Amino acid sequence: MITHLYDKTFESFIDEKTIDAAVKNLATQIFNDYHEKEPTFLSILNGSFMFTSDLLKNYNGLCSVSFIKLASYVGEKSTGNVKSLIGLDENLEDKTVIILEDIIDTGNTLSEIITQLKNKKASEIKVCSLFFKPDAYKKSIPIDYIGIKIPNKFIVGYGLDYNGIGRNLSHIYKLKT
Ligand code: IMP
Ligand code: MG
Repeated sequence: MITHLYDKTFESFIDEKTIDAAVKNLATQIFNDYHEKEPTFLSILNGSFMFTSDLLKNYNGLCSVSFIKLASYVGEKSTGNVKSLIGLDENLEDKTVIILEDIIDTGNTLSEIITQLKNKKASEIKVCSLFFKPDAYKKSIPIDYIGIKIPNKFIVGYGLDYNGIGRNLSHIYKLKT
């Protein structure tokens, strides 16, 4: 199947069944490791909204969920772009926090989030990403739960966008080259 988003052509890459199985597998793994701790899932918007919804529906333990967004803006000083987390009003002290990411590419976003969470005094911070591009990853932060490893290709669908569109596609497409 082919889909066109603005100027780009995308082709089918990962079907709904495969995504569903990966999400259920992640939910089970996290449940097995953390159901006694009542974890807080921290979903990184916008991309993770669909993944978060499906993961939580398959997580059969006590948990809470919070949503944050990474805003970038130009700082007043000449140091360039400063990123801050918006929406993080939850008290995370002594909590087990499990970050939910749609995809980890270079790891820059993840690294920024972890840095900013450090002063929230969580007892532990774990990372769960539905998709991961090992060939693009430049950080040493361990990714504790990985759904599907993919090659260094641009993908859309299931929450992921190309310039804001394509998030509603129920399976994953990759950029046709
Ligand atoms: P990183 O900071 O390079 O790890 O990239 C993380 C963010 O970039 C993700 O949360 C996505 O929002 C976006 N991103 C990275 N790769 C893709 C992709 O293949 N499709 C759509 N968005 C992507
Ligand atoms: Mg994201």
